Amino acid sequence: MPGGVITGWGIAVPEKVVTNEDLSARLDTSDAWIKERTGISQRHIGSTTSELATLAGRQAIERAGLTPADIDLLVLATTTPDATVPGTSATVQDALGVAGGAVDLNAACSGFVYALVAAHGFVLAGARRVLVIGSDTLSRITDWDDRTLAVIVGDGAGAVVVEATDGPGELLAWDLGADGSLRHLLKCDHGGYLYMNGREIFRHAVRAVVDSSLAALRRAGLEPADVDVFVPHQANARIITAARERLGIPEERSVVTIDRYGNTSSASVPLALADGLATGLVRDGACILLTGFGGGMTWASAVLRWGG
Ligand code: ACO
Repeated sequence: MPGGVITGWGIAVPEKVVTNEDLSARLDTSDAWIKERTGISQRHIGSTTSELATLAGRQAIERAGLTPADIDLLVLATTTPDATVPGTSATVQDALGVAGGAVDLNAACSGFVYALVAAHGFVLAGARRVLVIGSDTLSRITDWDDRTLAVIVGDGAGAVVVEATDGPGELLAWDLGADGSLRHLLKCDHGGYLYMNGREIFRHAVRAVVDSSLAALRRAGLEPADVDVFVPHQANARIITAARERLGIPEERSVVTIDRYGNTSSASVPLALADGLATGLVRDGACILLTGFGGGMTWASAVLRWGG
């Protein structure tokens, strides 16, 4: 059976940087509060979901040494599509010139990990090269007078190319879950603004990340001590720390980018993965635990052996 291996990756964030001081100038908040309660110092704001996805996708294809004509399928994880119809993946497919199919996937902040697992499934079903992108522009559905949300959201995109290989693939195990009875905790009606019950999400998020990570590791026959690189969804530095400590993973094995990017939803896990690659934390043979949670509620974890 063919397996999948990530052979290229790329990221994109808007040029405009909004600092905590910028927000404090117009909202009843402060740099100290935002840093202490969320770990965020700044975020990039602007652009559109399709533009950021296209930039990140092009980088990933080039890094893999491929051209868009080589891609069989594009899976775009987003919770902020450019429009309701058509799917934003259609715009990205056209902009890149991807030869194969294109589909959107929405699992809120868990979307990228869902899409990555789906890509490995497509490889099993016969696809040779799948472009997986997580792209979100939460700023477009944020009420900038709502200090609870304005201080945590950021825009960005991250992409990977998953290629079929005849040897063993990189995906050792996964865990995908949802509890739709909690969908009221984070929602945005058509034409409206994002609503979030931060405290309740916080409470559920830590448990979801820990339980899902343990389930995926168990299926891989591994334990938290075997994890070389922890790549969690970046929603709040306190959630990352609480989950990491409960799992017993040392701090130096964890990727944290929330200080620079804020919560970029579907983009947060691939942005963090790219950061781990840039700093040399992610290297051949490393055991990588990707894990996230988001609106729905949804949660998703994947255990990879980097390089297959
Ligand atoms: N600046 C200053 N004070 C604030 C701010 C702010 N931006 N926001 C809230 N406060 C105040 C509150 O009014 C409250 O004041 P009070 O004690 O006088 O009542 C106090 O700070 C504490 O408020 P809490 O809501 O308890 O703050 P908390 O520590 O829970 O932090 C936060 C809030 C950052 C939203 C946190 O709950 C969180 O990160 N939750 C999870 C968010 C998340 O993971 N979302 C999922 C994904 S998001 C997405 O997909 C868009």
